[in-house]
Amino acid sequence: MKKDQKYLIFFTYMIASFTNVDAADLSYTIPEEMRPGSIVGNIPKDLGLGVGEFFKRKARIDIGENDHHFCDLDLKTGNCIIKKRIDREELCGEKMSCVLRFELVLESPLELNRISLLIQDINDNSPIFPKDSVNLEISESADRGARYRVNAAHDADIGHNTVQQYSLQKNGHFVLSVQDDTDGSKKIELILDKELDREKEQDLNFALFAIDGGNPPKTGSVTIKVTVLDANDNAPVFNQTFYKASLPENAQIDTVVAAVKATDADEGVNGEVIYEFSRITEKAKKVFSLNSKTGEIRVIGTLDFETDPKYEMRIEAKDGYGLSSDSKLMIDVTDVNDNAPIIYLKSIMTAIPENAPPGTEVGIINVQDRDSDKNGQVRCSIQGNAPFKLVPSIKNYYSVVSTGQLDRELVSDYNISIFATDEGSPPLSSSKSVHLSVADINDNPPVFEEQSYSAYVSENNQAGSTLCRVSARDPDWRQNGTVIYSLLAAEVNGAPVSSYVSVNGDTGLIHAVRSFDYEQLRSFQVQVMARDNGSPPLSSNVSVSVLIWDVNDNSPQILYPAPEGSSFMTELVPKAAHGGSLVSKVIAVDADSGQNAWLSYHIVKSTDPGLFTIGLHSGEIRTQRDISQSDSMKQNLIVAVKDNGQPSLSATCAMYLLISDNLAEVPELKEISYEEKNSKLTSYLIIALVCVSTFFLTFIIIILGVRFCRRRKPRLLFDGAVAIPSGYLPPNYADVDGTGTLRSAYNYDAYLTTGSRTSDFKFVSSYNDNTLPADQTLRKKSTDHIFVFPKNLKQKTAK
Ligand SMILES: *[C@@H]1O[C@H](CO)[C@@H](O)[C@H](O)[C@H]1NC(C)=O
Ligand SMILES: *[C@@H]1O[C@H](CO)[C@@H](O)[C@H](O)[C@H]1NC(C)=O
Ligand SMILES: *[C@@H]1O[C@H](CO)[C@@H](O)[C@H](O)[C@H]1NC(C)=O
Repeated sequence: MKKDQKYLIFFTYMIASFTNVDAADLSYTIPEEMRPGSIVGNIPKDLGLGVGEFFKRKARIDIGENDHHFCDLDLKTGNCIIKKRIDREELCGEKMSCVLRFELVLESPLELNRISLLIQDINDNSPIFPKDSVNLEISESADRGARYRVNAAHDADIGHNTVQQYSLQKNGHFVLSVQDDTDGSKKIELILDKELDREKEQDLNFALFAIDGGNPPKTGSVTIKVTVLDANDNAPVFNQTFYKASLPENAQIDTVVAAVKATDADEGVNGEVIYEFSRITEKAKKVFSLNSKTGEIRVIGTLDFETDPKYEMRIEAKDGYGLSSDSKLMIDVTDVNDNAPIIYLKSIMTAIPENAPPGTEVGIINVQDRDSDKNGQVRCSIQGNAPFKLVPSIKNYYSVVSTGQLDRELVSDYNISIFATDEGSPPLSSSKSVHLSVADINDNPPVFEEQSYSAYVSENNQAGSTLCRVSARDPDWRQNGTVIYSLLAAEVNGAPVSSYVSVNGDTGLIHAVRSFDYEQLRSFQVQVMARDNGSPPLSSNVSVSVLIWDVNDNSPQILYPAPEGSSFMTELVPKAAHGGSLVSKVIAVDADSGQNAWLSYHIVKSTDPGLFTIGLHSGEIRTQRDISQSDSMKQNLIVAVKDNGQPSLSATCAMYLLISDNLAEVPELKEISYEEKNSKLTSYLIIALVCVSTFFLTFIIIILGVRFCRRRKPRLLFDGAVAIPSGYLPPNYADVDGTGTLRSAYNYDAYLTTGSRTSDFKFVSSYNDNTLPADQTLRKKSTDHIFVFPKNLKQKTAK
């Protein structure tokens, strides 16, 4: 009784201490033998939670060490309901307090609630005597007041439901004496009240009843059979009132636990003592045997401290006449470290978000060691260098807590090993492997494989052709790592960028939407965005430069002399010109670039092949030797201008030269040239042509004016004079700079001439006077060239 009270106090203390930690405790008291389906209590209500929240947090009952699933949760209401019959006697035997414990686990946040079911006894067992009948052989000489022991009845119930009283059937000789024994049991004795007389009665039969305190009470009975003998007799007597023994739980079969001894004063057969268990539990019967002759108690089964730490039995010593006495044997089983700790995983987060801060609780484990004291004290730890540790929680519970930042992209799974060791000697240990997986968070933006991309495409490409491919990687999981490409809205030359290129959202392939013209657009940039599919999505941008390659699709264009047929242009060559004098210059441009615009000049036909040469790249026409009197006054040259493209394109022009010092000769020029060109035309036609030419002169000037105004080149002025840049670009088509990117500046007039850096062209202001001094000569200076433009000459001629 005292022990039970202590246990209750301890239990109450445990409840109090648990409540101080983060677990709540629920305690219900129910009678044993409740019908399955009966409601014990509503757990969400008692925890102060809504039913919805309760189940959202994955509430479940963990049975742990207790293999029996006596109750469960009703998934609709959260009621705790009985699942199967609870028999207090089977579960707890003679224990005063019978408590079933289990844990209720809630997740997010992980929480553990202990639930205790206190099973109350009901009077479902009757008192039972060890045997159906008791045989007593009593001498007729026995005195009044002689006492005869009878084994007490046993009731499996506890407390008030156990045997409360005995009653003896009326028999005329014996009365009943019930006394509390020193060890707390009852001592039942029959007291001889009236002497026996063998002559009158040889046998007596009567019943003894045991009645428990239940409501209604239950009764058990035993038949007492008394045989009356002639002789005198003594009952055997134990040499100790009770025996105590202790043995380790791993004791071998056949180990002697104790030996009891009773002596009988009688001689012979009457003094032979036989030992018997007068009260022993079924369990103990399987573990211990009693030698009826020697009184030795031996181990015959396996002991287990954890299930039965202690046995109590009563041993009867009987002599030949059935006279007996009894004694009690108490066996203490001592603990041996024979149970390794067992690790139970109570709750585990199926996937830990990788952004969970260090210190996040990801699981709960419970460690149990069925041994006692040191043998049952367990130390627990996580081995290896996974970023998790165990934090002790309630008694044998530990939280698994993260200790560092997780990164799914580095480690997506952890197998952690939990080791538990008890403190016994030698210690026992066990381990458990727990798999933890890390859940993805969209924490990585897509990253382009290159910092920037360049796409090269030849002009006149087909619409729809592929320019290049951009590619970005995103290490996140599934849609968080799925990359979608798109163009960022912008303008190129005032038009939306989407009218130039398009990007395939899935593959990152960039296509041209139109055909490009290098002469209009040499390069442009677009921004491509790579976005993942997370929410919110992450993105990065990259710039793609589209560089258009020139194709030789433009022929050289001759600016001077003006195209054939549109006007007459005649150069004056002084008669005194020496060999090497600059006479004129063919000026041509090419809208292409580089080699495609690198022009070369050739004289393909001339009146006097030895007289004039042309600079291969400068286009400068010079005399090859001194002019002599014998040279023809009229000299015609056909000049071809070619670019250096593959294949190359060319243009030709005619140049008319007049060897003369006097502008007065000019009126004849036209005829001369005409005659030369069309020698078979009559003078009428010549006159008519002159008239027509004169008529349209102004008109041609206007056309020329309009034409060159349209050109974006303001530097080429044709209304009377030409001003050519004093420092034009070097010959080696240096429009591609060292970095390989095209200059953004648009040089339409890139190459007028090449190879003559020293030439400076100067504008002759007096020229507009339409008169030249009679002594005008061309100065032979390499840096100064004077051009006389035939347009003006013609104007003068017309006047
Ligand atoms: C964890 O263990 C499982 C099963 O044993 C195995 O398939 C998995 O590859 C292991 N993971 C790691 C990260 O070791
Ligand atoms: C993507 O990331 C979000 C948070 O950024 C997360 O909630 C989601 O579960 C992730 N998706 C996958 C498929 O892992
Ligand atoms: C990419 O450009 C878009 C549009 O300018 C902008 O909204 C976005 O923030 C940029 N993303 C990054 C990563 O710079």
